Amino acid sequence: MSATSSSPRRFVILISGRGSNMQRVAQACREEGWPATIAAVIASRLDAPGLDWARSQGIPTSALDHRQFASRDAFDAALAQEVDRYQPDYVLLAGFMRVLTPAFVQRYAGRMINIHPSLLPAFPGLHTHAQAIATGVRAHGCTVHFVTPVLDHGPIIAQGCVPVLDGDTPEVLANRVLDVEHRVFPTAARWLAEGRVTTGTDGRVEVAGVTDRLFLWAPEVATPVLSN
Ligand code: GRF
Repeated sequence: MSATSSSPRRFVILISGRGSNMQRVAQACREEGWPATIAAVIASRLDAPGLDWARSQGIPTSALDHRQFASRDAFDAALAQEVDRYQPDYVLLAGFMRVLTPAFVQRYAGRMINIHPSLLPAFPGLHTHAQAIATGVRAHGCTVHFVTPVLDHGPIIAQGCVPVLDGDTPEVLANRVLDVEHRVFPTAARWLAEGRVTTGTDGRVEVAGVTDRLFLWAPEVATPVLSN
């Protein structure tokens, strides 16, 4: 940890694209006055649209073009060097579309979280919305979890759940899930900022003062079917 318990926690947020989850975290951090600061936003693409937004907010940014590196190890070593420049307490993966090496994950063990668009352990990897529709599940959603060397796996901090409706396309379902992501990810980040998140020896997360870490989100459904 680079900060004492009383100084604001430093977050470095890694993105690859539009960065809407990153924006929600940065906005909530500022507007709600979290004991945290967004130390930097770092992208795996020079043209990641989220970088422009971060710059417009005065957040330090940098970008590494993964195509310039000969190997995954070389990219991750350069990424770690860049991340460490900002001395983060926590690294937040917000749509960071790169598989990270075990060495990188180990470096930030217990200090790196990810948001994945499925109710893990269902549907790790890509194309989660299409998989949810193809499989016929009636509920889908997102998971915020600590990162381990296994892809889309690790102690679960919070989940958001939405219905899968007849006629959904992957795009429609993705938008519904993104809506709940924008609630779950900032909330999980705030819990980290407030120092309330611990992982027990059983590998399960506890959040001090919070008993319910599931967000049910069904705006199109008139009757709250999910609580039946
Ligand atoms: C989100 O759906 C996130 O769950 C996934 O990638 C997407 C990123 O969206 N990992 P954004 O860049 O935060 O808008």
